[in-house]
Amino acid sequence: MNKDIKRDGNNSTKLFDNRSLQTDYATLIPILKPGMRVLDVGCGTGAISKDIAAIVGPQGSITGIDNTTHFIESGKETYKAVKNLELIHADVFEYDNPEKFDLVVSARVLQWLNNPVEALIRFKHFLKPGGQVSVLDYNHELLSWTPAPPESMLQFYATFLRWRADAGMNNHIAEDLPTYFAEAGLKNIQVFNANEVYKKGEDNFISRVAIWSKVAVSTQMVEEGYISNDDRLKAIEDYDIWVNNKAESMTMVLKEVRGSL
Ligand SMILES: C[S@@+](CC[C@H](N)C(=O)[O-])C[C@H]1O[C@@H](n2cnc3c(N)ncnc32)[C@H](O)[C@@H]1O
Repeated sequence: MNKDIKRDGNNSTKLFDNRSLQTDYATLIPILKPGMRVLDVGCGTGAISKDIAAIVGPQGSITGIDNTTHFIESGKETYKAVKNLELIHADVFEYDNPEKFDLVVSARVLQWLNNPVEALIRFKHFLKPGGQVSVLDYNHELLSWTPAPPESMLQFYATFLRWRADAGMNNHIAEDLPTYFAEAGLKNIQVFNANEVYKKGEDNFISRVAIWSKVAVSTQMVEEGYISNDDRLKAIEDYDIWVNNKAESMTMVLKEVRGSL
């Protein structure tokens, strides 16, 4: 059974709505072509999918699937004018479609699964002959902040990574994706650096760097005995002050990995 941190619904809907292909999956752009049929697995609210829809154009289309109901409901409302975007509430391990796809994309999803190779085998099943898979994901172990954030948040972050590892999630999945692609039987494997670097003064700097207070809003790690509620609240309080007063930059390490049938 895969696990996901239970974040506050509205909070994460807003976070995902702020994403775009151009800022959050830019390495994918060169392989998108008009007329393509694309499947976006774990599309969130469909914010990145709607930008893919614009590139594949009216001759192409994109289907986004996600197993979180409120993300799909929100996306259906927000992007209802995008005619070649279809959003479906479904789990990737249960979803099927008689029509096959030229490209299956999945951004920041496999990091949450304890069976990423099985997911990739599923992705293969959705492909047309000659189709491609693209996965974008993190190495959470290499996240860096300048200057260092408060000790309370460093502690929270270390606990978060331990909680994830205990649930079978790979904290450096970006590095292992090429091996997983090969295990799933995908060929022509290519790796692209896709780090996210946020610098003070840029648009959305505060909201991007504040992602960790949003993660800490969840009480799940408290309920599971990983951290005290006081320590969690202290991490949020100290980190929010740091974000607004001291933060200069944050780098999240990601890789995009592609493979084909
Ligand atoms: C971090 S979000 C990424 C959203 C979007 N792809 C992006 O990059 O902004 C991960 C998403 O994967 C979805 N997800 C996790 N496991 C899934 C599964 N088994 N089937 C479908 N969606 C899943 C979650 O509901 C969540 O919306």
